[in-house]
Amino acid sequence: MTFARRIFSGVQPTGNLHLGNYLGAIRNWVRLQPDFECVFCVVDLHAITLWQDPAELTKHTREVAACLIAAGIDPKQSILFNQSRNPNHAELAWVLNCVARMGWLNRMTQFKDKAGKDRENASVGLFAYPNLMAADILVYHATHVPVGEDQKQHLELARDIAQKFNNDFGQAFFPLPEPQILGTATRVMSLRDGTKKMSKSDASDASRINLTDDADQIAQKVRRAKTDPLPMPDSVEDAEKRPEADNLIGIYAALADRTPDEVVAEFAGRQFSEFKTALTDVAVAHLSPITAEMRRLLADPAQIDAVLKDGGERACALSQPIMARTKELVGFLNN
Ligand code: TRP
Repeated sequence: MTFARRIFSGVQPTGNLHLGNYLGAIRNWVRLQPDFECVFCVVDLHAITLWQDPAELTKHTREVAACLIAAGIDPKQSILFNQSRNPNHAELAWVLNCVARMGWLNRMTQFKDKAGKDRENASVGLFAYPNLMAADILVYHATHVPVGEDQKQHLELARDIAQKFNNDFGQAFFPLPEPQILGTATRVMSLRDGTKKMSKSDASDASRINLTDDADQIAQKVRRAKTDPLPMPDSVEDAEKRPEADNLIGIYAALADRTPDEVVAEFAGRQFSEFKTALTDVAVAHLSPITAEMRRLLADPAQIDAVLKDGGERACALSQPIMARTKELVGFLNN
């Protein structure tokens, strides 16, 4: 069987979207649109594996959707929806719960991190999370999945599950999804510590540029960003040994659409203060149209909901025949 090139990717509806989410994932999704049929999903079913306040979950779902649209996801060209609108995700996940082995899931490092010391008290959903992620992908016969480093193990598992299903039921039914690693994805680190990822859960708001920050807040955070006492590096090798410098150069390069080499060449030996002024300018120029559009969209929640509803219907139409065939293969009476 040959499969069309189809992308699936998911993002959690969490608050505090920041520059790391944008440069690490969202912007790359936008770039994939011309070359692939794309299904982009705000994964609310995944979110509730950890406790979510219901009103906050609703709010964050709309915020993430608004951000994706503002950043350039075209909901007419691609499918954009929130996961719970298509029951096939949960339905296939159940079948895959019965395909995946306990031993496979026991090896997932993210479960160990998220469950922490009190594993007995973690939700069953948190443990089975990777099976739902496999279902997200497989229920559309997606062939390519853009994921960051932290999701690679889950994608490997999705491949193993697809392969075992195909074996168990004697048919090459599910394509084995390929990771879509993008050279352009940027790993954005904290502005206060160049060795830690930029994170929504960092106690210091100064550690991240939020996609809701205005120009003054961006300028202040860049000005206060940690650096070392030396002038700007004069080679990429030098920069790589200096985490804070390396991070700011990477951010500048990504936002200005230049290579790190070009950025290093331009600023070599200059003072950080000068570079930070230039960085603020590109950050504000690039982000302010997006944040303004996000605010405009969020002022009219009914319009966002309508977009997600339409996406949900198209998602259902796409997965429905695949789910029906899955049931047939498993032997469920369904006529
Ligand atoms: N687990 C992913 C994350 O936390 C989100 C996600 C859910 C996902 N389903 C997916 C990503 C399917 C890619 C494909 O980032």
